[in-house]
Amino acid sequence: MRVFSGVRPTDKLHIGNYLGAIKQWLEFQEKSESVFCIVDLHGITTPYSPKSYQKEILEKTAEYLACGLDPEKCIIFIQSRVKEHTELAWLLGTICQVGELQRMTQYKEKRQQHKSAAAGLLNYPILMAADILLYQTDIVPIGKDQVQHLELTKTLAKKFNARFGKTFKIPEPFLPKLGAKIMALNDPKKKMSKSMPETCLFLFDEPKDIKKKIMSAVTDTGKTIEYDPKRKPGISNLLTIYSLFADEPIKKIEKQFQGKGYAELKKSLVKLLEKEMEPFRRKRKELLNRNSYVEEILNQGERKARVIAQSTMNDVYKKMGLTG
Ligand code: AMP
Ligand code: TRP
Repeated sequence: MRVFSGVRPTDKLHIGNYLGAIKQWLEFQEKSESVFCIVDLHGITTPYSPKSYQKEILEKTAEYLACGLDPEKCIIFIQSRVKEHTELAWLLGTICQVGELQRMTQYKEKRQQHKSAAAGLLNYPILMAADILLYQTDIVPIGKDQVQHLELTKTLAKKFNARFGKTFKIPEPFLPKLGAKIMALNDPKKKMSKSMPETCLFLFDEPKDIKKKIMSAVTDTGKTIEYDPKRKPGISNLLTIYSLFADEPIKKIEKQFQGKGYAELKKSLVKLLEKEMEPFRRKRKELLNRNSYVEEILNQGERKARVIAQSTMNDVYKKMGLTG
C-alpha cells in the first residue's frame, strides 16, 4: 500500500497542520510505503518571495524532519526537482474541464483573497492530481479542506483510465477521525489557517506564546467542560487539541475536568503543550544548523521518487500515443 501527501513550503506550520496532517504521516511511515512531497510549485500560485524561497524550502524540510518524518522510513523530496510532476499536470489538463476547476472552493477563496485569477491558481488541483497519480497512490492523508481536490483527482484518474486504458490507481483520502479541522483559537467558528496568522498556534511557538494564545482562547457561554462542537465550539476545539496531544480519548479528559472551570482546562492544556511542543522546537533548531544533511536527505528522496514517477510517465506516454 502506498501513501502520498504534500505540503506547501510557504508560511509557518500550525497545530492544525500537525494534528490534521503530519501526525497521520508519522503513523503511516511506520506501516506503509510513504512518499511526502514539499510542493514548491503549488507554493508559487500565491504571493511569495523568490529571494528567500530556497531558504524557506530547506527550512520547511527541516521542520518536517523535526516533527518526526524519518528518511529511513519514507521518501521526502521537493516537487519541482522531479520534472514528471509538471509533465503529467500538462497531460491531465487536456482531459480536465475548466468548469470542474472553477467550482473548487479553494480556488474561489484564494482568487478573492489574493485578487488574482492566474491560470496557475485555477490549475492548482491538476498539479495536485499529478502529484498523487504519478506514485500510483492508494491513500492520501489530508485535511477536510483538500477532499474536494482529491475527488477531482479521482475523477481525472477514472476518466484517463476509461479513455486510454488502465494506467492509474484510484486513490482514497484519509481523514483523521479527530482533528481534521482544528478551529481558530480566537474564533472557533473559523478554521485555524495560516492565511490568518492571528488564528494560529504555530508548532514552533515559544512557551510564552503558547500560554498567551491558549489562555486568551475564546470559550463558550456556560461552565461545563463537554465536547459538543455545535453548542460549544470553543471548548470542543480545546478538548480536541488536548486529546490529540495527550493521546487520550476526549471522554477521559471530560471526566478529568468534571466540575472544574474553563481556566483550569486552559492551564492544564498550556502545560501539556509546553511539554509536547518542546522537542519540536529543539530538533528544528538542531536541523537548521545542518543544511548539508537536509540537502542529502532531499537528494536521496528525489532519486527514489524519480524512479517511481518515471515508470508511471513511460506508461502514460505510451497510452496517450506520445511514444511508440
Ligand atoms: P495547508 O497549510 O493549507 O497547506 O495545509 C497542509 C495540510 O494541513 C493539509 O492536509 C490541510 O488539510 C491540513 N490543515 C490545514 N489547516 C488545518 C486545520 N485547521 N485543521 C486540520 N487540518 C488542517
Ligand atoms: N493542495 C494541498 C494543500 O493545499 C497540498 C498538496 C499538493 C497535496 N499536492 C498534494 C496534498 C498531494 C496531498 C497530496 O494543502
